[in-house]
Amino acid sequence: MEATTFVLFGATGDLAKRKIYPALYNLFIDGKLPESFHVIGLGRRSFSDEVYQASVQQSVQTFSRRTADESELQRFMQSFSYCALNIDHQEDYKKLLEQVQQKEAAMTGTTNRLFYLSVGPEFFETIAHNIKASGLGDAQGWKRLVIEKPFGHDLLSAQQLNAKLSESFEEHEIYRIDHYLGKPMVQKLEILQQSNPVLQALWSNRYIANVQITASETVGVEERAGYYDHVGAIRDMFQNHMLQLLMMLTLHLPENSTSEVVRFKKKKILEALEPLHKDNVATHIVRGQYAAGTQSGKPVAGYTEEPGIPAGSMNDTYIAAKLEIDDPFWRGVPFYIRTGKRMAEKSTRIVIEFKEALKQSTKTQDNNRIANLLIYEISPNEGITFQLNTRDPQNKEQFKPIHIDFHSNGDEVPEAYESLILDAFNGDPTFFAHWDEVELSWKWVQPILNAFAEQSVPLHYYPAGSNGPKAAEELLAQNGHHWWLDR
Ligand code: BG6
Repeated sequence: MEATTFVLFGATGDLAKRKIYPALYNLFIDGKLPESFHVIGLGRRSFSDEVYQASVQQSVQTFSRRTADESELQRFMQSFSYCALNIDHQEDYKKLLEQVQQKEAAMTGTTNRLFYLSVGPEFFETIAHNIKASGLGDAQGWKRLVIEKPFGHDLLSAQQLNAKLSESFEEHEIYRIDHYLGKPMVQKLEILQQSNPVLQALWSNRYIANVQITASETVGVEERAGYYDHVGAIRDMFQNHMLQLLMMLTLHLPENSTSEVVRFKKKKILEALEPLHKDNVATHIVRGQYAAGTQSGKPVAGYTEEPGIPAGSMNDTYIAAKLEIDDPFWRGVPFYIRTGKRMAEKSTRIVIEFKEALKQSTKTQDNNRIANLLIYEISPNEGITFQLNTRDPQNKEQFKPIHIDFHSNGDEVPEAYESLILDAFNGDPTFFAHWDEVELSWKWVQPILNAFAEQSVPLHYYPAGSNGPKAAEELLAQNGHHWWLDR
């Protein structure tokens, strides 16, 4: 029988409130939590269990995708207690260990410990070290470490961090969260391809002209100036989320693949990425920063006018990249990837443009009409659309696009954190980033970081509320392509 203590560092933080408690609540309602289960929330300040429970309750009521049921919520809250802890104080970990042991004594079955680090990356090493030094790591059953991004600031710091964590946890015990891997559509990508011969047959350079992966956001830097100005879009979104989307889309998996196979294939994709170097970064990467503009009819400030951002900051709030995977399936297919803040719309999507046999055989210049597209909408809406071409019955000379659409009902779709936390309980690492992937993505990104630091890639400004810098259009135009579905 499974009995697990969920030890949550950063229990009073934003992520815990917005994502972790609502996710745990929904898992609880669905009967998916371990039979014996307890959460110990940790934070610097002292609280009674009751005050802590009330804050958990409030976050569930505010952020859960399902309306909270009063009596279920009361039952749920009984599994929460609090412990004040200073991350640097070893004696606090001893106190925590006592509390964990006390809860375990009341549980039946083998007791496991899941440590969730919902804190800044500067604390990861210290916490992992103190977990080991205090004996908290000596669980009767399994122990696992769930860790949020960012994992390092560049290749070297990521390697150093990993070396430190490895002193306290083995690789198979480390669950590196990339919440994009928890998005339901991302989890479905591989199965869609594998279980539909029509897609499977088309999934290569033979039929695909190019692939466009977009994660555009309407928000700006928000209250995170201190963090964001040091990382930019390249570290905040590209090195992790965007490259994960690329890997999940391009895998060719044998049937019934285990998590080891998935991870092996992901690694192969990164290894096959054409590397960038000093001399070609500028021709493959567009770096942007939002200037003042208009969003939903209202004027919005430019990045350097945001509170906390230095006036002359050259930080990237937008990045577009052209990548190529040098393997037999994908050789010759450009992958265009872009992400940015303060853009025209919030949309994470993948557009696959198929090669256009029609283009050669017809005289039309209107590319829009004859494109054959497959569109995966990942968030905020989840959907799949096929754009096919047919003849316009009103005008026989013209082609007309038709759309075959599937869109799911948002409320029924589990949140990314629900599936990821459940997988961590169940010991399924498939949708977590393995160290090999993290290291290889930093390796690929490092020449870009160097070029940005040396200012050898121009910084293009784009008005807030737009689709990004013009230079990103040119990046595609060189190959005769253009971004699809821009507003
Ligand atoms: C986070 C980034 O990882 O992802 C944020 O730190 C970004 O800057 C967020 O806003 C986007 O996530 P989502 O799920 O809203 O696309």
